[in-house]
Amino acid sequence: MVDQPVSKGLDDMSKSDQLRDYVCRCEEIPRSAIREAIAEGNHTLNDIKRRTRAGMGVCQGIYCLRTVAEMIRSETGVHPSTLAPMTARPPARLISLGSLANIDPGSDEHDGA
Ligand code: FES
Repeated sequence: MVDQPVSKGLDDMSKSDQLRDYVCRCEEIPRSAIREAIAEGNHTLNDIKRRTRAGMGVCQGIYCLRTVAEMIRSETGVHPSTLAPMTARPPARLISLGSLANIDPGSDEHDGA
């Protein structure tokens, strides 16, 4: 068994290459973009979301918001428990009006688009 704290192993892993440096994997937002947004004065989860798109992916921040909150804490001293939760919005996809117009209201079938 490796005799090192789990967090040290995670730190080493996160520094190993660019791919692993994504804080938000859904939107492919690197740690540097979050750090830059915080430095520009974005100190809430919603500020970071609006500035970088972190938290706007398919998982809606399940995987990234804790890391973003921890980065805000480390850069500003604001404790994550005092941060307001991110405004939740369902992921949306653009669809054409033509697709909507062609929906048969009597049919249970749809193409998922
Ligand atoms: S990892 Fe950020 S929204 Fe999914």
